[in-house]
Amino acid sequence: MEIRFATPSDLDSLLDLLRANHADNVPDEEKKFGFVTTQITKEQLIDLIEQENGVTVAVDGGRVVSFALAGAWEYWKPWPLFSYMIEILETFQHDGVTMTTENCYQYGPICIDKDYRSTGLFEKVFDFSLASMADRFPYMVTFINQINPRSYAAHVRKGGMVEAGKFDWNNNHYWMMSIRTK
Ligand SMILES: CC(C)(COP(=O)(O)OP(=O)(O)OC[C@H]1O[C@@H](n2cnc3c(N)ncnc32)[C@H](O)[C@@H]1OP(=O)(O)O)[C@@H](O)C(=O)NCCC(=O)NCCS
Repeated sequence: MEIRFATPSDLDSLLDLLRANHADNVPDEEKKFGFVTTQITKEQLIDLIEQENGVTVAVDGGRVVSFALAGAWEYWKPWPLFSYMIEILETFQHDGVTMTTENCYQYGPICIDKDYRSTGLFEKVFDFSLASMADRFPYMVTFINQINPRSYAAHVRKGGMVEAGKFDWNNNHYWMMSIRTK
């Protein structure tokens, strides 16, 4: 098992994992075990690698078994949800500090292949991704859908994240989560 920054040759395998865990393909009764909602293309992932070095992968036997994305708000701005998060970002604080597009970045989604869950891989991929942005930003934020309690539990108990607040968008209820990067 190797945990490292992704290269373009990892992306087909990464997208297979994303598709398998996307809300569109996860039955409702399994959503409590996790799902992702962000849609991203291979071209957008290549931009994320080139502009932000923002793609962490865990690779086992040549297959991507986990990934985590991370990038500055400027990168995420074209997605409607992230554009909304930028609008409301300054209503959230971490340790009394107001979150801004300059002092924090957006991480996520993170995804772990079913066969590799609850193995400690979450912590390793999360920590690698967080450390990789620490010199650029003092804080990281992310959103978690309130019908994804497994992700919330992992990010709080294993990632050390805290809830900065809640928000609603497009008929979904989200937690806004935050953490210091170092
Ligand atoms: C969310 C995800 C990254 C977490 O990684 P993981 O390896 O499953 O995490 P872990 O099993 O180490 O930790 C999850 C914790 O949630 C708990 N948990 C599991 N199912 C749960 C549920 N339905 N409700 C509440 N807690 C739950 C587990 O018991 C575990 O806590 P514990 O180890 O203290 O007992 C992974 O499940 C995943 O990729 N899911 C699909 C995609 C996804 O949801 N991504 C996140 C989008 S925000």
